Amino acid sequence: MASELSPIDKAKFLAAKQATEYVETGMKVGLGTGSTAAWLVQCLGEMVREDGLKIKGVPTSTRTANLARKVGIEVITLDEAKWLDVTIDGTDEYDAKLTLIKGGGGAHLQEKVVATASDRMIVIADASKKVDTLGAFPLPVEVIPFGAKITKRLIEEMLIGMDVLGREVTQRMNGDKPFISDEGNFIFDLHLKRIGNPHQLSLALNQIPGLVENGLFIDICDVVIVGHGDGRVDVR
Ligand code: 5RP
Repeated sequence: MASELSPIDKAKFLAAKQATEYVETGMKVGLGTGSTAAWLVQCLGEMVREDGLKIKGVPTSTRTANLARKVGIEVITLDEAKWLDVTIDGTDEYDAKLTLIKGGGGAHLQEKVVATASDRMIVIADASKKVDTLGAFPLPVEVIPFGAKITKRLIEEMLIGMDVLGREVTQRMNGDKPFISDEGNFIFDLHLKRIGNPHQLSLALNQIPGLVENGLFIDICDVVIVGHGDGRVDVR
């Protein structure tokens, strides 16, 4: 299959395929969201249908839940699972400390809840996701609709004291309507360009009352599997 793919899809597929090595029969598996995670769900579905793999999957979005059911993976809720053996998900950026920016697909809230309730989080990525310093990718934050304009102002004021290069905050849109997350919330994207201190920023963001969760994953990811268009796969 990999030979028919574009180099970027081949890289994502190879990372996803390699990540299936961390999954065994009987496991409860967190299933990430996005194009790379979709390859993982396809690969696991094939193993369920053709190799007799028996797993229960906890999806991190409606999109992933629909795909998982379609490919034959049994889907349960996180509360039914109680705890997960492993979560496998994509990322928008990762650095040398395996700190991530996630939420490009607007699912970082459920993704963080699921990954935190797992023994291990494995990230699958193509090589373009590696950065020296986080922040070129806009940092998503999930905000409740009530008082969202005030929350935006509070974020902008807080950013003045932070070690970042850019401070623009934009509301994510879906055409001419606000993007709405699976939890019924808005997503704001923070165009920071460079995040000097992810830990400090994450703590400050999550102190703002209308802000539910930010897309920085700190000390959550255990392993990053990187696929390359030429067929190589690195594990970090
Ligand atoms: C969704 C995410 C995705 O994992 C992230 O956006 C990467 O997506 P892709 O694999 O399509 O590049 O965090 O909220």
